[in-house]
Amino acid sequence: MEFRVSAPGKIVLYGEHAVVYGKTAVAASLDLRTTLEFKEIEDQIVGLSMPKVRLQVNIPNYVEKIGYTNLQQKLALEAFFYLLIAISQVEGLSVRPFRIAIDSALAISSGLGSSASFAVCIATCFLHLSNAQKNELSSLDANELEKISRFAFSCEKIMHGTPSGIDNSVCTYGSIIEFRRGETLEPILGAMQMRVLLVDTRVQRSTKAQVDKLEALKRRYPSIFGPVIEAIDNVSKEALEVIKTVRSLPGDGGEGLHSSYQQLMTLMEVNQGLLATCQTSHPSLDRICAEAKNYGLAAKLTGAGGGGYAYILLLPDTPTETITSISKKLIANGYLVTLTNLGGAGVELHTL
Ligand code: PMV
Repeated sequence: MEFRVSAPGKIVLYGEHAVVYGKTAVAASLDLRTTLEFKEIEDQIVGLSMPKVRLQVNIPNYVEKIGYTNLQQKLALEAFFYLLIAISQVEGLSVRPFRIAIDSALAISSGLGSSASFAVCIATCFLHLSNAQKNELSSLDANELEKISRFAFSCEKIMHGTPSGIDNSVCTYGSIIEFRRGETLEPILGAMQMRVLLVDTRVQRSTKAQVDKLEALKRRYPSIFGPVIEAIDNVSKEALEVIKTVRSLPGDGGEGLHSSYQQLMTLMEVNQGLLATCQTSHPSLDRICAEAKNYGLAAKLTGAGGGGYAYILLLPDTPTETITSISKKLIANGYLVTLTNLGGAGVELHTL
């Protein structure tokens, strides 16, 4: 038996940080994906290849100890074995020798959902295997996707402590998602696909440190930061309205589409301003936003802030020369730039 699974990464479009306080966030899948290749083999081993964490191991039937040299490798192995054991128990999967190779177009530990897309791929792989052992087809229907997202969420807890659940959801369902902590969420069916430039500041940041900083500010000045967080919630809700409206525009969207993009850009700038007020921006992120504005475009930090990534929303008619020019400028300033699409497919299974 041989098959391939892939799952997208994610970015938060609107509402990060406020989502920690139960407010609305909007996230989208990236067309940068993690890919898993599965093959049953004769040798009595489980073979694992994970080049992103520089891990290559052959695990014999009887295991005393698996060698790992850093935290990323430890977490990757823990996630893998957690899913193998959990799915064996819950779904009655019987484990036979296999080889799995997992690679990703996503930078790891950078807020792009690499760990969730990794967990979604592995959960889908074992679920498909257990279906096949029962002679059942994997349809990746609502029921299966819910299972996959739930397994991946448990896995995220092992890797991150208290994840909000946004990453495993987007990596499973794809598209654009309206998210509130603890609520069942739905991808926005038929949501628009958008082009963005993903800009890596190359400034290291810690999500926990950023979240803790805002928590301290909110505790010290509740009457200031309470309303700011409320305002971010309203930005997300307004953006969702726009995204939903675009679905009903006729044909190529015309004037309506143009106006929707203008609104999304305004809301990005407002959200960025509010996040800067929350002290979660960074001079490098501010420079990216200023550069985008020079080109008549909008940018916003995505994720925890304090470094990490920003995204620049491209318009349907942004010319290639503009994209090339702004990319060159940003690269000359030391940033990394990737042109990518948002809102594409969630987890996919390709049988070979
Ligand atoms: O870790 P990142 O960069 O994907 O950002 C997390 C987004 C926050 O809202 C800041 C935290 C959270 O758990 O939602």
